[in-house]
Amino acid sequence: MANGIDKTLPEPRAVLSWLIGRYKVSSSDTAGSIQLEEATLFSMSDLIRQVLYISKSTRAMSDAELHDIASKARLMNERQGITGALLFVENSFVQVIEGADAPIERLLAALRADIRHRDLTILMDRKVASRDFKNWSMGIITISEEKKADVVREIHLADTADLRADNDESEFFPDSQTFLMMKHVYETNQSLQLARGHRPG
Ligand SMILES: Cc1cc2nc3c(=O)[nH]c(=O)nc-3n(C[C@H](O)[C@H](O)[C@H](O)COP(=O)(O)O)c2cc1C
Repeated sequence: MANGIDKTLPEPRAVLSWLIGRYKVSSSDTAGSIQLEEATLFSMSDLIRQVLYISKSTRAMSDAELHDIASKARLMNERQGITGALLFVENSFVQVIEGADAPIERLLAALRADIRHRDLTILMDRKVASRDFKNWSMGIITISEEKKADVVREIHLADTADLRADNDESEFFPDSQTFLMMKHVYETNQSLQLARGHRPG
């Protein structure tokens, strides 16, 4: 929180554009009064698709390789309007990707075909009104040993639960502690950047 302003509140401009998008002035306005009708401008397709998955690395992963994956991902994600974060713990990747539906679908197909990891399991796949990692084209999350235990617990839970059995395309794992932790790391990073007078990025 900077200057006592709660950064989680939507910007007035965002609220206004949401309202303008939701309602438009009717063109059949004969009585001189403005009629509001539900506009098609604001629909589910305008929302951001946010996916959280977990996968197993097929080989030992050095820091350099992890950074290589992330830096190549950044270049491609910037072009596709994709943002997110990547975590590597105990031979498992945990990644959040967020963006428009079509690029996210294409990325998921590429990720599923990538032999550097296997057993890609979607923990969460949902539409959100705004991104949680909007300034990261792909950030690498590093965590303390203490926090690692929570992540490892969740990785094992995801291994044992049959997450694909009940596939209704909603949230499989809405309360993922790992996701909340990744979000927290991002938010802390952004506040630090602001405090140092840097533009968050
Ligand atoms: C753990 C992991 C995370 C990745 N994250 C991304 C990503 O965020 N964006 C991306 O474009 N590629 C990412 N890649 C690389 C893709 O799997 C794939 O190699 C790349 O998109 C090129 O795909 P293409 O050869 O089908 O064009 C990742 C790979 C791994 C192993």
